[in-house]
Amino acid sequence: MKSIPLPHFDYTPAPYAGPSADEVLAKRKQFMNPGIFLYYKKPIMIVEGKMQYVWDSTGKRYLDGLGGIVTVSVGHCHPHVVAAATKQNNTIQHSTTIYLQPRVVEFAEKLASKMPGNLKCVYFVNSGSEANDLALTMARLYTGNFDVIGLRNAYHGGSAATMGLTAHSTWKFNMPHSFGVHHAIAPYPYRGPYGYDDPDAGRKYAADVKDLIGYATPGKIAAFIAESIQGVGGFIVFPDGYLKHVYEHVRAAGGVTIADEVQTGFGRTGTHFWGFETQGVIPDIVTMAKGIGNGAPLAAVVTTPEIAAVMAQRVHFNTFGGNPVVSAIGTAVLEVIERENLQANSLRLGARILAGLEKLKTKYPVIGDIRGKGLMLGIEFVKDRATKEPGKELCAQAVENARELGL
Ligand SMILES: Cc1ncc(COP(=O)(O)O)c(C=O)c1O
Repeated sequence: MKSIPLPHFDYTPAPYAGPSADEVLAKRKQFMNPGIFLYYKKPIMIVEGKMQYVWDSTGKRYLDGLGGIVTVSVGHCHPHVVAAATKQNNTIQHSTTIYLQPRVVEFAEKLASKMPGNLKCVYFVNSGSEANDLALTMARLYTGNFDVIGLRNAYHGGSAATMGLTAHSTWKFNMPHSFGVHHAIAPYPYRGPYGYDDPDAGRKYAADVKDLIGYATPGKIAAFIAESIQGVGGFIVFPDGYLKHVYEHVRAAGGVTIADEVQTGFGRTGTHFWGFETQGVIPDIVTMAKGIGNGAPLAAVVTTPEIAAVMAQRVHFNTFGGNPVVSAIGTAVLEVIERENLQANSLRLGARILAGLEKLKTKYPVIGDIRGKGLMLGIEFVKDRATKEPGKELCAQAVENARELGL
């Protein structure tokens, strides 16, 4: 299969002179955690990136459709982000929250300005898992309740606490981790009991959260947490009104609402800056990572000053969370999103890709469903449209072919 020629791009990567992909693979097997996985029968070794393109060790250029798992939000090595990081790296790299640091508060203020309602208090951490851990802690302290409702088919991380929230057996090790966590039915219109043709699907799926609170908890809960579009679970877009109904049930049971914006934030969905806004709700706590730092180890929890106040009951400390370098990067990322109108770009390009995928769907019966918002789009492959039996092998082959073609 031949690559589809990519458009001209005014950038020449440096000739690669490092170890071969086979050598790196052998060393990775010898020295690194065996639980990590690779894409493709013959793994790609990416050695350089510039904006939407990456180059492998053979010099082949690819259009990057994955962005390091929904993380490179403004382009690989974006010059504004690199300049901000370099400047800060040459000034001071680390100080911690026990000293005042201008870059860090500057970023907190800018991030807070992007939030609706009273979501104005920012807490920096290093990863999405850590952000969700902290959100759980805040919710439990604030409400005085323990039980948490998540969704099946969710991914919220792999730390001890977030493994309990994650609801795919693939990512759950066989050890105790889900104490106090209950998983409601995923509002998955393509496969769930209420389909795209049911205008009341949002309310009906939400009723399962109410049931779960009534049957599986003391009737009081600490929190409900959901991704605004389920990412790892296959870009599941919830039916309209779902989160509105759920939030009513959760608040009636004394719980707070947590939106995991790790994949959906920062304009990716096109119509809104935050994924929860597409459902017309304002959560009590928002967690974010990935796109916030364009690849830098940066994540955050944003909540109201009232909820955040519970953290003053003890000292809570995070050595690297929001250090000056990642804060400078985070500010630069927000500036690029604004200056280059990247949310509007997600909307425009997303609509164009979606229209193309819809055409493919009319041609290929193995495409069961096309869904997503903005630049968060997916194809669900099936062996048979009537039975909806998952087309796992077809999906894997499509990914292999895309790689060959240069995507
Ligand atoms: C929605 C969501 N939440 C949380 C996480 C965990 O983030 P991290 O891998 O940075 O711990 C991920 C990671 O894929 C995610 O997709």
